[in-house]
Amino acid sequence: MEPIYLDWAASSWPKPPAVTQAMVHFLEGNGANPGRGGHRQAMEASRALYGCRLELARLLGVARPTDIALLSGATEALNLALKGFLKPGDHVITTELEHNSVRRPLEWLKEHGGIELTYIPAGHHGKLELTRLAEAFKLNTALVACSHASNLLGSVLPIADIAALCRRRGVRLLVDAAQTAGSFSIDVEAMGIDMLAFPGHKGLLGPQGTGGLYLAPDLELEPLLQGGTGSNSEEIRQPSVRPERYEAGTRNTPGAVGLREGVRHVRETTTEAVRRHEQALVDRLHAGLLELPGVRCLGPAPGEERAALVSFVLEGEDPAVTAFRLDREYGIAVRAGYHCSPLGHRTAGTEATGAVRASVGYATTAEQIDTLLAALHEMRQG
Ligand SMILES: Cc1ncc(COP(=O)(O)O)c(C=O)c1O
Repeated sequence: MEPIYLDWAASSWPKPPAVTQAMVHFLEGNGANPGRGGHRQAMEASRALYGCRLELARLLGVARPTDIALLSGATEALNLALKGFLKPGDHVITTELEHNSVRRPLEWLKEHGGIELTYIPAGHHGKLELTRLAEAFKLNTALVACSHASNLLGSVLPIADIAALCRRRGVRLLVDAAQTAGSFSIDVEAMGIDMLAFPGHKGLLGPQGTGGLYLAPDLELEPLLQGGTGSNSEEIRQPSVRPERYEAGTRNTPGAVGLREGVRHVRETTTEAVRRHEQALVDRLHAGLLELPGVRCLGPAPGEERAALVSFVLEGEDPAVTAFRLDREYGIAVRAGYHCSPLGHRTAGTEATGAVRASVGYATTAEQIDTLLAALHEMRQG
């Protein structure tokens, strides 16, 4: 039984061979610390980080690579953006589709940092109503923080429209691109995004423990961490120069080397081609699921744009049991539970059960989708 991996929305796998090869090559040939020391190996490590930033900048429409901080993942990026930007008295608008990586830091700031918070509800299918968002702005609104696509429902938010609303009111926009970076074309400047948090280990095809934050040139954040940067060592305070200001401590250089190759792979394939491939697969999966007896799919209607995932529940069966059986009896890896999105489940009406989520990526095949559908069919009959 050939294992089938359909949990790409959590972490992408398999990675392009160049990702692993570049990491092994780096680890075998150079263990030096980037930005610390002037010897050749240290310089090469610094260049490796810059190479990663450069690839990311080219993919995301960022003019200056130094406006990207390399961090451990989207969670760290979101914490830095929210805790570094918001001040007591600020009002933040967010949505009920958010992952806990947005919601928990915001709730923490509400409890400990004196911010006000408004959640915009989404319709049953995960569609955000822009008028609800427009009505939520207040005089002290400082930030809109929202995902580009829901990791549970797969619905895609109209970022350019949201950005236009923010611009008109002088409000900043933070976007969580965890489910879209690498699959959707993103141009931070053209889309009007002030801060973009992204993981390296999902659609960007890098290793776990990588990711970052794009920060508009005219924005300055309070760093999350203070410490060594390898530069301005005589200064007591964290230097203001980017990206060091937000990168205290030794970076994950082998991870950045892998991420560089992952992004290169995306750029060579093009996000348009990745998108077409993924949308075709989720359309096939969605249509096939709807033919099964007693299945309910969450999120946008069939054929509508969605991120590379479909969540569903089988009537009368605990999603955890469905996922367990798929794994043990058929060798198919999917994810069951709440997907760190409790309000998203409330939106979909699945707060009591959770759901099963199958997600795809560049290496997923139509045959793998058909095998999943055949397995579910057999389980429904048996
Ligand atoms: C929408 C969303 N935001 C944030 C995250 C957190 O990303 P990371 O694992 O890189 O911290 C995830 C991961 O599942 C996600 O789906």
